[in-house]
Amino acid sequence: MANAPQFVIDGLKASIEDKEILKGINLTINGGEVHAIMGPNGTGKSTLASALMGHPKYEVTEGSVQLDGEEVLEMGVDERARAGMFLAMQYPSEITGVTNSDFLRSAINARREEGNEISLIKFIRQMESKMKQLEINPEFAHRYLNEGFSGGEKKRNEILQMMLLDPKIVILDEIDSGLDIDALRIVAEGVNSMRNAERGFLIITHYQRLLNYINPDFVHVMMQGRIVKSGGPELAQRLEAEGYDWIKEELGIVDETVGQEA
Ligand SMILES: Nc1ncnc2c1ncn2[C@@H]1O[C@H](COP(=O)(O)OP(=O)(O)O)[C@@H](O)[C@H]1O
Ligand SMILES: [Mg+2]
Repeated sequence: MANAPQFVIDGLKASIEDKEILKGINLTINGGEVHAIMGPNGTGKSTLASALMGHPKYEVTEGSVQLDGEEVLEMGVDERARAGMFLAMQYPSEITGVTNSDFLRSAINARREEGNEISLIKFIRQMESKMKQLEINPEFAHRYLNEGFSGGEKKRNEILQMMLLDPKIVILDEIDSGLDIDALRIVAEGVNSMRNAERGFLIITHYQRLLNYINPDFVHVMMQGRIVKSGGPELAQRLEAEGYDWIKEELGIVDETVGQEA
């Protein structure tokens, strides 16, 4: 049996074009745990997701990120994926000329040893079964990656990738945006079916709605590039009922976005 992963973010600071966006993020995710990060727009949530995955636009200026004791920040994007990290992006990219099934198969094989590639038959069987589970039309296997997919179809496709790649640390950035109620349920069930002791989740959302379907162990609130409050699911309930003003009042925050601080 694989060991439960441990993912430790310690004092992470990151900038975009010399503007500091992340101002010291500390968070530990153990295998089996689901952490939700909530927060208004422009508070650095997507920046955190991208910086963790190694997007070149985000310059990490301080801190460390370790997965099972290995320094992630020294790894390239592909190495992070091979180490077991997965990010479902808020805005998945369209890639013309690469079919969804070719993309998925190369992503799986990129994480396997040379000579140990997944057989075509086995891959197709796995892909078809997961597509069925996510109620994705089989035709989508042959479409170009995300090209012309609706918002909701892209999100389902991200979950399909996650299911096939079987990562240790899953980061979902607003996987619920653009989903109708049925799609939200299907996506959430897909996520829930992947919850186990060998996997940790970081789920970024600004609606509590998603957390009715995916029950988090921990809820964190992000403002001004920092985690300003942490709690259990009841914190998400309170945010849904009361908004963010009470936290701003409690902490004396005037503007929650990054870069507007006095
Ligand atoms: N690629 C970028 N170029 C310039 N500014 C950016 C870029 N990405 C994010 N920002 C800025 O960083 C701040 C945080 O953005 P983001 O992490 O996307 O917030 P959230 O996901 O919480 O809505 C915002 O002020 C945003 O305008
Ligand atoms: Mg975002």
